[in-house]
Amino acid sequence: MRVVVAGATGLIGSALVPLLRGRGHHVVALVRDGSRPVTTGQADTADEVVVADALDPVAVRAALRTARPDVVVHQLTALRRMNADAMETTARLRTEGTANLIMSAREAGAAKLVVQGISFATAPLGDPVLDEDAPLYLDAPDPTWARTVQAVAEMERLVLGTPDVAGTILRYGTLFGAQTQYDPEGPFGAKVGRGKLPIPDVATGVTSFLHVQDAALAALSAVDSEATGVFNIADDDPAEGSTWLPEYARMLGAPPPRVLPSDIAERVLGWVAHHQLTAMRGARTDRARTELGWKPTVSWRRGLASG
Ligand SMILES: NC(=O)c1ccc[n+]([C@@H]2O[C@H](COP(=O)([O-])OP(=O)(O)OC[C@H]3O[C@@H](n4cnc5c(N)ncnc54)[C@H](OP(=O)(O)O)[C@@H]3O)[C@@H](O)[C@H]2O)c1
Repeated sequence: MRVVVAGATGLIGSALVPLLRGRGHHVVALVRDGSRPVTTGQADTADEVVVADALDPVAVRAALRTARPDVVVHQLTALRRMNADAMETTARLRTEGTANLIMSAREAGAAKLVVQGISFATAPLGDPVLDEDAPLYLDAPDPTWARTVQAVAEMERLVLGTPDVAGTILRYGTLFGAQTQYDPEGPFGAKVGRGKLPIPDVATGVTSFLHVQDAALAALSAVDSEATGVFNIADDDPAEGSTWLPEYARMLGAPPPRVLPSDIAERVLGWVAHHQLTAMRGARTDRARTELGWKPTVSWRRGLASG
């Protein structure tokens, strides 16, 4: 099949391109900067490159017209830097960028869309580990997080509601691996490694991690599968903050995290990190295993500190 990968220069996208080519697909990389060296035709690079900013509907339309895809894979985010601007740009990539890709994919005759979502947008209600039917945290008290979740919901609505084009949403867990936030050299890894990330005294929030390579393998399964819909994609080992953060510090050779009393924890950590450590829910992945035939190959316990 002809498969367009939007975000082919990203961590997941660049892991996905050789996997798709290895299965015999013809891969067209959609990139926004045509001046960056992207060699085509080699084992780890795309067969073709088209250039478009995903937020420019005219450019996306022209690119997909040239690419003539059967399947479009959307791995677009701006999350290499985790600040408010990056979150807002990512929200726009999930709403406007997705709408641009859908419109152009339909016009170009694509039959399927595979799109990156997140598994940790669920409301902190009920069981510690939730499936895909759990409600999203649309009314999160933090405006940046509420905007993130609302953009994810809008993206899912667009993808699943497009007539004639089958939609698959891969709700990825918290990414780890080389060059992610959790890389020992990455911003989060470095902070934990220096003993600078304290932990709330009650850290029962659950994180479901996901190695970048497993994220790419899930996208490969989704491209090749007849199954469509929403799938949680995460490792087998959802863990409370009180488990994974001290263990991560230990793996990095750092001192145990300093313990914060509950009344000051949110102020010190910021809302998102506090939510992750105290309230977030993990993700059940039974549906992806049964319907996509995907399963994780790496647990955070083995890979979190190894990049
Ligand atoms: N995915 C998540 O939910 C999530 C959550 C938290 C943190 N992170 C962090 O994000 C990083 C990896 O995630 P990832 O693979 O999803 O992201 P990534 O490595 O940043 O890749 C994003 C891709 O989207 C492309 N892109 C961004 N804006 C674009 C635009 N306007 N038009 C066209 N292409 C555009 C990028 O192109 P360029 O190469 O041109 O920039 C890149 O190919 C890690 O550091 C991870 O820790 C991700």
